[in-house]
Amino acid sequence: MNAFTLPRVDEHLAVLGCTGSGKTTLASWVLSKAPFDLMPYIAIDFKGDELLGSIERLREIGLHERIPTKPGLYVIRPMPSDKDAIENWLWKVWTKGETGLYIDEAYLLPDKDAIQNILAQGRSMRIPVIAASQRPVNVPRSIFTEASHIAVFRLNDRKDKQRVGEFTPQGLIENRLPDYHAWWYNVKRDASFRVKPVPMADEIVNTINDRLRPNVKVT
Ligand SMILES: Nc1ncnc2c1ncn2[C@@H]1O[C@H](COP(=O)(O)OP(=O)(O)OP(=O)(O)O)[C@@H](O)[C@H]1O
Ligand SMILES: [Mg+2]
Repeated sequence: MNAFTLPRVDEHLAVLGCTGSGKTTLASWVLSKAPFDLMPYIAIDFKGDELLGSIERLREIGLHERIPTKPGLYVIRPMPSDKDAIENWLWKVWTKGETGLYIDEAYLLPDKDAIQNILAQGRSMRIPVIAASQRPVNVPRSIFTEASHIAVFRLNDRKDKQRVGEFTPQGLIENRLPDYHAWWYNVKRDASFRVKPVPMADEIVNTINDRLRPNVKVT
């Protein structure tokens, strides 16, 4: 049977949708289920994200620091204009491997070799990527071509629909869904799911905070 599954550590997820459609909420819910108790997960926060800012034990690291080796949740907060510094940093992640990436507003990533390599080879190197973005036409194409899972909320722009349509089953995203519902396409299994609204930001933050609290083992 084709049951719904969350991305494994050798799989990438792309979350797309128009502005305010629920992308960050869904992506952060997926992050809240990710194995950051077993390996480091690093959020690339381009815009001072409120949800990330509410995570108590989120550790901020600098672009020029070593990539963390200990499990946990980390954040870097680069200026989107720092393209070279971000590119160098992504190469460090690629060299190290075994690191999850959470990238909101993925259209702000430099569309260069590092992210393409991470997405293409990241599976064997265990660099799972959770990437969310509006304007699918503006994100690196590898976000789609290398995704094992593609989640799509409402899209308004014709070109955006066309781009996402290239990577999802025919007609899928034409089916209009209620607010905060999304289509979720499992690429490898060629299976589509309708995802109901996930919990709101507060609950997601609580889950993450509980999981990051020392000596609390949540299974
Ligand atoms: N699962 C949900 N259930 C109920 N309301 C939701 C849900 N997801 C999102 N919302 C509502 O929609 C708002 C926008 O959600 P979210 O920030 O996830 O969207 P987004 O697509 O990331 O927006 P943006 O394009 O601005 O980044 C939330 O503040 C919340 O009010
Ligand atoms: Mg968002």
